[in-house]
Amino acid sequence: MISYKELGLVNSRELFKKAVDGGYAIPAFNFNNLEQLQAIVSACVETKSPVILQVSSGARKYANQTLLKNLAKGAVEYAEELGYKIPIVLHLDHGDTFELCKSCIEMGFSSVMIDGSHHPYEKNVELTAQVVEYAHKYDVTVEGELGVLAGIEDDVQSDVTHYTKPEEVEDFVKKTGVDSLAISIGTSHGANKFKPEQCTRNEDGILIPPPLRFDILEEIEKRIPGFPIVLHGASSVPPELVKIINSNGGRLKDAVGIPEDQLRRAARSAVCKINIDSDGRLAMTAAIRKYLNEHPEEFDPRKYLGPAREALKELYKHKIVNVLGSNDKA
Ligand code: 13P
Repeated sequence: MISYKELGLVNSRELFKKAVDGGYAIPAFNFNNLEQLQAIVSACVETKSPVILQVSSGARKYANQTLLKNLAKGAVEYAEELGYKIPIVLHLDHGDTFELCKSCIEMGFSSVMIDGSHHPYEKNVELTAQVVEYAHKYDVTVEGELGVLAGIEDDVQSDVTHYTKPEEVEDFVKKTGVDSLAISIGTSHGANKFKPEQCTRNEDGILIPPPLRFDILEEIEKRIPGFPIVLHGASSVPPELVKIINSNGGRLKDAVGIPEDQLRRAARSAVCKINIDSDGRLAMTAAIRKYLNEHPEEFDPRKYLGPAREALKELYKHKIVNVLGSNDKA
């Protein structure tokens, strides 16, 4: 058993309290490799933002849980070396079993998500409470989920949205003891968050998605005032990145995300953690495609991963300052 405290990491409790009180959200960025981690840490150090490093099941399969844990440990020292100590949380994204959450806690994660949202309500309560009981013994924080997001993220997939039922949240929080709650108000995983028929088009032909259900968020806030709320599926899928990808040999069709002004509005409320993965994937892919298209003679991965890392860092800085508002909060 390794405690996250030995690795220099923190849990999310204090960060969320400050974020809810201060009207901003902590960035939760997914990482799978060294370049993504470097981009996240350097962006957060430069903007003085706390950060949640997220590891999904796909990341664990791709990069190995032990290596990712050690990268997160290295991130703590790397941040200091860059000149500013920021609070870093290592978080399991979409844990689906008690055993998985337990194994992550034992190897040094400071926060876990148990996603029981696909189960019937009572089973979700039971599973979440079991993880909370174990995690809290080690001062690890737990995120639960009520309601189901549409879209695809690694192994997590649903064709339809089931909005969170506000009448369930009080009971869920009380019975499980969770530290934060992911809700479904119309965000969705992936780069194709909505079908074209769910959207309108502006004069440039760009898809405009249906607005988030702020009425549900407000109802939830009334029932559990000040309780930390999490938004998954919060990439904006910037049309300019999709354009770079498609004009350099890519073929992304009808990609659409959540407008940043809506996320900014959410971040000012009890939403204190916003998950962004797809936008990072798009930024890296756009930079790599452009570089390789313009430099067909290059074959050194550092030559194209370097600009990709730089593009990713700029994207994260933009999110922190203009969308989440977590700059200068570390
Ligand atoms: P996006 O696919 O919108 O980036 O969402 C990522 C996410 O919610 C990770 O849990």
